[in-house]
Amino acid sequence: MSIRIALIGPGAIGGTLAAHLLSRPEIDLTIIARTPFDQLRVEQPDGSALVGTPPFLTTLDAASAATAAGPFDWIFVAVKAYDAAATAPWLAALLGPSTRVAIIQNGVEHRERFAPWVPASQLLPVMVDLPAERTAPGRIRQRGPGLVRVPADDLGHAFVALFAGTPIDAATSDDFTTVLWRKLTINSHGAINALLLRPNRALQTPAIAELARAIMLETIAVARAEGARLDDALADTILDSALRAAPDGVNSLHADRAAGRRMEASARNGAVVRAGLRHGIPTPFNLMATTLLEALQPTD
Ligand SMILES: NC(=O)c1ccc[n+]([C@@H]2O[C@H](COP(=O)([O-])OP(=O)(O)OC[C@H]3O[C@@H](n4cnc5c(N)ncnc54)[C@H](OP(=O)(O)O)[C@@H]3O)[C@@H](O)[C@H]2O)c1
Repeated sequence: MSIRIALIGPGAIGGTLAAHLLSRPEIDLTIIARTPFDQLRVEQPDGSALVGTPPFLTTLDAASAATAAGPFDWIFVAVKAYDAAATAPWLAALLGPSTRVAIIQNGVEHRERFAPWVPASQLLPVMVDLPAERTAPGRIRQRGPGLVRVPADDLGHAFVALFAGTPIDAATSDDFTTVLWRKLTINSHGAINALLLRPNRALQTPAIAELARAIMLETIAVARAEGARLDDALADTILDSALRAAPDGVNSLHADRAAGRRMEASARNGAVVRAGLRHGIPTPFNLMATTLLEALQPTD
């Protein structure tokens, strides 16, 4: 029996995961796109390309027809965090009582963000580490190996099984809180590059490296209050690795600002501020980053 998956948001992450899932004959994948395209093409790190033409839906009428053919087993949501509300009509049309919904986004608020539209028992938060960028609708460049981590519950185990036989490193974690906050700690210092519009090499300036360290230490303090097992030494580990990375490397917040796109400032640094408030932990560095990045959001 085939496994029906609807994927909302075929961008860098959604498109790459979709292209890998297409290699599994037992998976029946439908893509929900905002901007239509003819073909999904994902360039691989080794220079090869995954090419596919799964069915695409762009209108809710089509979604109704698709659900008439039977319930979806899974919905994958891989839009940017700020586009969450735009998926509500799709979720209303596609979600059945036994459909599981994987939220594949950065940040730590997957459950809260989708609580208005997805029952908690059907929602699976996913941490994704997969360097990829979209060059045009349906055209994606995957720059390195892909990794997804999920909580070690029934939904998590079922999600991991979907990627069997694909090169995506999918696994459950017994400490998903730590997994999410570790990634957010890395992401939190990316705000500095986005504000400066300067790539990784900005961290070679000692005062900027100190600022990055301070933002991360704040994030780690809040993470611990949230139950994550993170040590302050993580900030130095992340800094060392950022200093060894390509000096021209650009994080996604920086890339989004440089391209005039909206930024996930609220889902990243803003999430640290909100959690800090809950625990009475001051987060002035993350607050300043969030406030300035929000002020720099494009107006459309
Ligand atoms: N890219 C990375 O390397 C990376 C790595 C780790 C984590 N992440 C996280 O993964 C998440 C997804 O990021 P991304 O880089 O994949 O973003 P992206 O490339 O901008 O893709 C988002 C996709 O969602 C689509 N979309 C937006 N609203 C929609 C709607 N209402 N219905 C259907 N499709 C809709 C967009 O369509 P349009 O074509 O119309 O814009 C686009 O195809 C983010 O939380 C990001 O932080 C990304």
